[in-house]
Amino acid sequence: MRGKNIIIGICGGIAAYKIPQLVRLLKKRGASVRVALTDAGARFVSELALATVSEEPIYRSIFPQTESEGVDFTSHISLGEWADALVIAPATANTLARLSAGLCDDMLAAIFLTLRPGKPVLIFPAMDGQMFLSPSVQRNIATLAAQGCSIINPESGELASGLCGIGRMPAPEAILLALEEALHEADKCSPLYSKRVVITAGPTREKIDGVRFISNYSSGKMGFAIARAAAKRGSIVTLIAGPVHLPTPPGVERVDVESTAEMNAAAEKFFSNCDLFIGAAAVSDYRPAAPYEGKMKKDEEHIELTLVKNPDILAGFGRQKSASQLAVGFALETRTGLESARKKLTEKNLDLIAFNFFDRKTCGFDVDTNILTLIGSDGIVTELPQLTKDAAAEKLLEAIEHLCLKNGL
Ligand code: PMT
Repeated sequence: MRGKNIIIGICGGIAAYKIPQLVRLLKKRGASVRVALTDAGARFVSELALATVSEEPIYRSIFPQTESEGVDFTSHISLGEWADALVIAPATANTLARLSAGLCDDMLAAIFLTLRPGKPVLIFPAMDGQMFLSPSVQRNIATLAAQGCSIINPESGELASGLCGIGRMPAPEAILLALEEALHEADKCSPLYSKRVVITAGPTREKIDGVRFISNYSSGKMGFAIARAAAKRGSIVTLIAGPVHLPTPPGVERVDVESTAEMNAAAEKFFSNCDLFIGAAAVSDYRPAAPYEGKMKKDEEHIELTLVKNPDILAGFGRQKSASQLAVGFALETRTGLESARKKLTEKNLDLIAFNFFDRKTCGFDVDTNILTLIGSDGIVTELPQLTKDAAAEKLLEAIEHLCLKNGL
């Protein structure tokens, strides 16, 4: 569950009161949870309780309901992109009908439509037994199952009406288990599942003397986002990080380094046994030829610093990679540097390069978003819009997944 993004859709059934407990269980296991609550659902469980346990706002309508919510008419799309799985519990007869008809009249129905392909949808119908067995409900369930949704039949037992029979929603622990299994299966569907992925991230520091260094503005955010996205797919991830102030993504092995020489030495250890190498680090191309021992004095009016070239880590991997290994790089250029990025793709023998520029506001160093253009060695160019670095990492890995499939990896 760690690092997974889960959306829970809650409809209007008495079992809705159990969902805050499910949210707590998911959060305890390290998942991020967002809740889409139908109007009927809000009659059974309070928005406040759900917002408190999920630590997120609750999504109801596609449209902002108050002025203060601001105008964001696209959150149904970003939520569909964000989610690794959608759980609808309890699912009522009404919502089953809405979803099977493809209606889009609230946030839950919209997310159901914008959820990315391959992401599990688990539906837990809960209602009166006769209602559940009615031909209309069964027809809608069959439609949703044919679309790839997992329908988990209700349990038998005492119902809210006092009757006994089928219709009860499973306990939160059982829902959690079903979700864990579904996510595990979905992860296995990625060609990156159980692949060894090595990622470089952040800047390097090249010593001038004992207290000064040459470096750059890289924060490591892009590389760490890629590591998170790969770990979520079940890859075995090693993240070779320059000096950055970021927490290690869950399930990722981290190797901290400072200089290019250290990053190169750490990376070379994995050259022969990794399946995918991604160079997201902003590596210093040069280093002072002879770093001064101790602290340089400021007696001189002018000093000259001789720089020597550093090894190119990614090119080193590109030179020696086998047919079953993939090399992916970044090219940090000026806004018009697409050609230069193409040159790096060829010169470093890469399978894919992500061109980005830097304006310190929307893309490149240190900001939370990036604007990538992906260029494949097959000539295919994909221009991505401004995205959060997490969303950009997802798109990059989707492109790599295509490459894996294309090359039979
Ligand atoms: O860390 P953030 O603040 O989130 O910023 C992200 C980023 C802008 C640093 C990232 O998206 C990025 O563009 N990283 C590559 C920056 C860079 O050094 O680009 P380059 O064009 O100089 O290098 C081309 C490729 O060769 C890169 O994959 C780089 O990692 C690799 N390289 C370069 C030099 C070298 N000596 N060794 C290398 O491996």
